[in-house]
Amino acid sequence: MKYFIANWKMYVGRADAVMLAEIARAAKTAEGVQTIVCPSFVHIDAVGRVVSGSAVVLGAQDAYFESSGAFTSAVGIKELKELGVSHVLVGHSERRRYFGETDEAVNKKVKAAYAGGLQPVVCVGETEQERTAGQTESRVSAQVRTAFQGVSVKKVIIAYEPIWAIGTGKASSSADARAVHQLIKQIVKETNGSQCSVLYGGSVTPDNMHEFWNTTDIDGVLVGGASARKETLSSLLALLSF
Ligand code: PGA
Repeated sequence: MKYFIANWKMYVGRADAVMLAEIARAAKTAEGVQTIVCPSFVHIDAVGRVVSGSAVVLGAQDAYFESSGAFTSAVGIKELKELGVSHVLVGHSERRRYFGETDEAVNKKVKAAYAGGLQPVVCVGETEQERTAGQTESRVSAQVRTAFQGVSVKKVIIAYEPIWAIGTGKASSSADARAVHQLIKQIVKETNGSQCSVLYGGSVTPDNMHEFWNTTDIDGVLVGGASARKETLSSLLALLSF
């Protein structure tokens, strides 16, 4: 299975979210390709109505690890499931950077997602500074190990998103990404023994998508900015039909 995940972040209003969902719904994708759209929480219901009954499934951009209670503004797994959500991004670098999410919180969210019946897509990746210091492998290893500590499941999905590549127009090379994907798969095999898909994210565009999509060990892409504009989303989806 290959995954195409559209992360619309906080980019679009309701009308645009619905329009993007209609584009995703209409796209023809090859067999073995799963398209997942991740609107902001407030658009999930509207987008869900558009993709309902199609091959496109709903993802959320985050979820809180507690199941219910006095946690003002938090959104839990059960609430997302009620809206038809099947996947949830966990530990996106913007959550880590702007909202103080730690590796330990990511671990709690991973456990909560599996316990509640959602498939987590765990995001990991190094900063520019860590990359320059030759710490990519150690940082990514630590993130993966902590995220899956105490987790024993059949299916793991991880998105490798080097932070320096997110929203910068400076994507990783497919060869560099592949090396990190191989490392991640090795760690999951050793620690968790699960079936593991690793997606690449960070400045994926219609121009470079083909390269990532066709590289061994890259099991799909997680796209932000280019998935939130109708022209580029259409071009990206067109590449999924063969
Ligand atoms: P980008 O974002 O495609 O805009 O670089 C990717 C992501 O953050 O998921």
